[in-house]
This record gives sequence, C-alpha cells and structure tokens, in this order.
Amino acid sequence: MSRVSRRLRSLPLNPHRILIAKAHELSRKGFKVYDFTAGQPGLPPSKEALEYFLEMVRKDPFKHFRYMPTQGLAELREAVAQDLNKYGGINISANQILITTGGAEALYLSTLALLDEGDGILILDPSYSVYWDLAKVLGLRIETCRQSFENEFNPDPECIKEKLGVKARAVLFASPDNPTSRVIKEDVAKTIVEVARERRAWIIYDVAYKHLVYEGEHVWIEKYDPALENTIVCGSFSKDIAIPGGRLGYIYGPMDVIPELVKLKGIFGIVAPVPMQWFAYYYLAQGFKEKYLREVLPVYKRRRDVAYEAFKKLFPEARLHKPRASMYLFPDVGTYLNDMKLNDVEFTLKLAESKAVVMLPGSIFGEAGSGYLRITFVTMNENEIIEGFKLMREFIDEKQSKTT
Ligand SMILES: Cc1ncc(COP(=O)(O)O)c(C=O)c1O
Repeated sequence: MSRVSRRLRSLPLNPHRILIAKAHELSRKGFKVYDFTAGQPGLPPSKEALEYFLEMVRKDPFKHFRYMPTQGLAELREAVAQDLNKYGGINISANQILITTGGAEALYLSTLALLDEGDGILILDPSYSVYWDLAKVLGLRIETCRQSFENEFNPDPECIKEKLGVKARAVLFASPDNPTSRVIKEDVAKTIVEVARERRAWIIYDVAYKHLVYEGEHVWIEKYDPALENTIVCGSFSKDIAIPGGRLGYIYGPMDVIPELVKLKGIFGIVAPVPMQWFAYYYLAQGFKEKYLREVLPVYKRRRDVAYEAFKKLFPEARLHKPRASMYLFPDVGTYLNDMKLNDVEFTLKLAESKAVVMLPGSIFGEAGSGYLRITFVTMNENEIIEGFKLMREFIDEKQSKTT
C-alpha cells in the first residue's frame, strides 16, 4: 500500500523522464550517446551576457543573492514588458507580470489559480506531456481536441466550439508547439479567442518557443484579446536565452488575476531564482538577447534542414512535416513500428539500449501521438544528427530481418 497521497498514486512516472534519465545514464557509462530527447538549447548562453553578469555579481554579490518581493525583480518585469512591445507590439504594464521558476511553474500556477478540482480543461492532443500530468494532479477533467497530421497539427475549430466554455473552463496549448512544432493558424487562434470571450472561458497560452521560428511568425494571440480579459500567457527563458537550468519563466495576464498568482507563488518557493532574474534582466536590457538570437537561429535552422532531409531520406515510409518553428521533428513512424511489432515506447527503449540513440515516444504526448517519435534537432551538430539517424536505420533493418 503506497503511503503517498491518492493524487500521486494515480500518476505513473512519465516515460519522458525515464528516457531523459536513460540518456544520462548511458553517457555516464561511457557510451557515445545520440541524445534526441530533451528540448535543450544547442548552444550555450551568450558569453558576453555571462561575463557582464559575473562582473556585476563580483561588484555586489549581496544584491544578486538576497530574497526579493515574490512578484519578481521590478527591473526585469519592466524589461519583459518592453521586450513584448518590441517583438509583438504588446502593451502591458510591468505590474501585470509575475516572474516564475520556469515556464513549467507558470503553467502550474496559472492552472491552479484559474481552475477548481473537477473542472474541465481542454488539451490539444498531442500536447506537451506535462499538461496531462498537471491536469491529473490537480484533479481536472480532461477534454481533448485532436491535432491531426493532415491538418498540420492544428485543432479543428468545430471541436473548440463544441468544448471550450461548455465542457471545459479553459484551454491550455502552446504555439509554437511541443511536440509537433506547429505554429497555430491565425484563424484557429482567432476562433479560440472569440469562443473564450463569448463564453467567459480561459486561454492559457504557452509561448516557451515564441522566438524559435524559422519561417513565418509567432502568433501573438494577445492581439485578439488586447485587454487580456480571458488570456494568460506563460513564457520561459529556457529556450530563447538558453538557461533551462536557471529555471526562469514568467506569466502575464489580467490585472485582477495577478495578485492571486503572486499569492500562490509566495507559497511555491517564495520567489523565482534571484541571480537568474538579474541575469535575464541584463540579457534583455543590454541587448544580448537580440544578438544571441541572431547568432543561434541560423544554426538551429541549418540543423533543422539537415535533420529533416536526412530523416526523409533514411525513412521514406515515415510521414513528416518540415517544422517551421520550435525544436522538434515529429514523424509518424507507424509503418516501421508495425513491421517490427513494437509500439513507440518499446521502440524507443530498445533503440536506446541497443544503439545509445535516445528519442521520445509520441504517445507520451497523448493518444494521438501514438506511433510518432519526438526528435530534438537543435542539440547536436549536423554530423551527429545524421549518425544517430543512421544507427536508427541500422536498428530497424536488424529488427526487420529478424521478424521476416
Ligand atoms: C511547451 C513547453 N512549455 C513549457 C516548457 C517548460 O519550460 P521551462 O524550462 O521554462 O520550465 C517546456 C519545456 O520544454 C515546453 O516544451
């Protein structure tokens, strides 16, 4: 009999964490690991920004390591407000921003603040695996709308109309997306905002990848709800300024909800990591972010191109969209899995053990992801990406020769 809460007993360990741990374990054992798992930035944070930060810390260590008010560093909140205006033409005040311990906490606090146990939450299937666990831990009723390959992983607006505000009090989704990398279509985004407004439902919009767009543009859903009446936006500093281990993110939303979120944040960890708040502030205020993105985006784009071409060539029977944003290839490899008589979880575990090539199974992102793989294309260089795919091809050939 488990001694932990009922809430946790019903929550199995997500294979997401198992496979990420597997990649680390193989590497510690001395294997050359081809790690396509975590959405890690492929290049370190800006050297200039780091040097500036270290100089500031040396000058005044006390200031950089003390507690500060729960809502977060005022200078950083100002800088985020200016940044949103610069990139998206968004007009919000620094008072509408709460700095969080990563985008993941932003999602958690928003969901906890807006929904009660038993409320319905609409999750697009497939979606970031944390959404499903979050909804389960909070005792929410999960409603889904499918995102199909044929529709470039956009949800059907009719499904949104059927569920949002009727069966679900909120919709939680990301654009650019994880795991599918799709950017939401403007008309779908508009429908979501209109339905939410009409039925007084919430939109929790996750923009962790908003700067990683290679073709086209990020969809600023806020422009359809400029007063942020029904919209809460959750952002992250993990991907764009490349500090995932720094654990820093932010939320902005309606003025009446922010104090409630601050109340919650006070319980969950008091305040987001203070040295990282200063670091992010310097990054934004000194122009390091813009410069860093200018350097990094072409590198990611090249890796995306190489990964896409190599995958298409080596696995011609897979269905795959060329990602226009984010960090992931999301191929449907169902034909290969059927031939090998393996499901996606079995395949990724066996591939990791046999070739030290580690990817994530699509099914951990929802039922609709079953038969797919999530492959991060930004973390390794072009040669490693190709070598990893070749080893996967080798593995499939070995398996197929055994089953035929
Ligand atoms: C869609 C999405 N949202 C949020 C996060 C969480 O990011 P953070 O590191 O800021 O907690 C991730 C992390 O990969 C993500 O993929």
